[in-house]
Amino acid sequence: MSRRAALIGCGATALADQPRPLRLAAAPGRAALRGTAFPETEIWGYGGRVPGPEIRARWGEPLQIVVENRLDQDTTVHWHGIRAPNAMDGVPGLTQPPIQPGETFTYAFTPPDAGTFWYHPHANSLTQLGRGMAGVLIVEEPEPILVDRDLVWLLADWRLSSDARIAPGFGNGMEAAMAGRVGNTMTLNGAVPADQRVRAGERIRLRLVNGALARIMALRIEGHRPVVVAIDSQPCDPHEPKGGRLLLGSAMRMDVIIDMQGEPGRRYQVIDDFYDGLAYPLTALAYEAGRPIRAQPPDTPLRLPRNPLPEPDLAGAERHELALQGGMMGGGALSGMGGMNGMATPGMDGDAAWAINGMSMTGDGHAGMPPLLTLARGRTCVLALRNQTAWWHPMRLHGHSFRVLSRNGVPTPHHEWGDTVLLPPKETVDLAFVADNPGDWMLHCHVMDHQMAGLMTVLRVA
Ligand code: C2O
Ligand code: CU
Repeated sequence: MSRRAALIGCGATALADQPRPLRLAAAPGRAALRGTAFPETEIWGYGGRVPGPEIRARWGEPLQIVVENRLDQDTTVHWHGIRAPNAMDGVPGLTQPPIQPGETFTYAFTPPDAGTFWYHPHANSLTQLGRGMAGVLIVEEPEPILVDRDLVWLLADWRLSSDARIAPGFGNGMEAAMAGRVGNTMTLNGAVPADQRVRAGERIRLRLVNGALARIMALRIEGHRPVVVAIDSQPCDPHEPKGGRLLLGSAMRMDVIIDMQGEPGRRYQVIDDFYDGLAYPLTALAYEAGRPIRAQPPDTPLRLPRNPLPEPDLAGAERHELALQGGMMGGGALSGMGGMNGMATPGMDGDAAWAINGMSMTGDGHAGMPPLLTLARGRTCVLALRNQTAWWHPMRLHGHSFRVLSRNGVPTPHHEWGDTVLLPPKETVDLAFVADNPGDWMLHCHVMDHQMAGLMTVLRVA
């Protein structure tokens, strides 16, 4: 299926007042993840495909998405990054009843922000996301940056057996207490990445989505200098990332502008070198042979218009600290587990391996998840996330986007916002947001095994 055919957004039609109902079926399917030399992989996906259809909406356009569950287990859809009303957030038990097999649920909301978002289940999500259920949702700015092409790379990480089946063993307790289920096969938009054809001189907006269960990525493009213009769908000051590396924890997105200033006919690798000693070429930019389409990069601006996000009021903020605890020590010994509620030896299947402020909420969204904190609606909250563990955690707060104020007390540059913030081991990150979206919101690690094994809590805005 061509990418064009996969667009179910509004395309060329005029913006209507009435939402166009879109339909998404959560269903089993097959995908040629590793190409034609291998058997097709049995996956679960939206429309039975990986990735699910790309949803494109214009800013201000109401969306109505009817989700039908053709799986044999409960599911929901979470619209990651969209500051939707609580009832549309897709967390089973917390914000809606799960969608049972054979049932449908209609999600209806108007995304308040433009940007690059994605959708995935929030029921049994370690397995459901790990079997392929994910898609990209793009809300177009009224005045986007002028580019020649707008590309989306949904990156996913699979653990496949030699005959291209999805390996069993989701929820392995040992992995849950370590880096999570990191796979062995990367796909780009649902296939093992082939070379990406580009033309010399063109300006591309590349929307990167880390749709992996656990894998963290640090992407470098040989000979190129991508400029980051948005992180997690929120515009930032346009900047070249440190060391030229685009660092993406699970669930994070980055919009980058790349001027293709390479030589016609040449090939430039895109390398992921996040894990020490495990760098690999993810894909390559393959230049066509023709003359550059322009001599110089365009001088049109790279700054995206801001979204309607309230700026936090730091002086009047309420402050809270959340300590991330547990997990194995890097060398295999257990870290300080003493005194944590309900925490057994990490690494045993189904038991908690992690905690937030001494409490482990395990599994996925479910009924009866009590809020750890209640935040006053409309007030700014500064959250200090203190990673006391030996592992990296991409921490996700639902319902809001936050300013990333500082790391280990050092202010962050580029006016960075996010909805998922990647914490290195032992780092403390200060976030700030106006708690303006009422309801009970999950806060959890997006390494799915970590969430399932206790790195999850709930914040109430009331
Ligand atoms: Cu992708 Cu609970 O989020
Ligand atoms: Cu984690």
